[in-house]
Amino acid sequence: MGTTVPKSIREEHEELHQDLARATRQPGAVGEAAREVARVLHPHFVAEEEYALPPLGLLSAVARGEMPSGADQIIAMSEHLREELPRMLDEHRAIAAALDGLIEAAKREGQAEVVHFAEKLKLHAKTEEEVLYPATLILGEVLRRRGFKA
Ligand SMILES: [Fe+2]
Ligand SMILES: [Fe+2]
Repeated sequence: MGTTVPKSIREEHEELHQDLARATRQPGAVGEAAREVARVLHPHFVAEEEYALPPLGLLSAVARGEMPSGADQIIAMSEHLREELPRMLDEHRAIAAALDGLIEAAKREGQAEVVHFAEKLKLHAKTEEEVLYPATLILGEVLRRRGFKA
């Protein structure tokens, strides 16, 4: 059992990434707005895959009451997220603002698919704020209470 980002989230990130890459190759205002989204999104995705989301690969095992190997790593990542959370949320705000610009440009050019992608990415960030980040924080807390020290 490794500390890796769950497959469901990895695939979602991958799909968002590909949709965005396609939009950045467009000419004009849509491409320009998409490249701005990519600029603010990239470092954020890297941080998420480094420490915010890998603990969730062990979430179901911990929920079953198992003591996974790598618990110390999960606690360290969870604490890292707790420290970085204000910055991560700031980044979500910057990403949402860039996405609003993209939505506007895409609507003007009648590009429904790009609008759909941008809405999907906004929802993804909301899911992280409401469910995934808190799950990582709680996971670290649970393991610490079960006697692991980071
Ligand atoms: Fe994400
Ligand atoms: Fe995020």
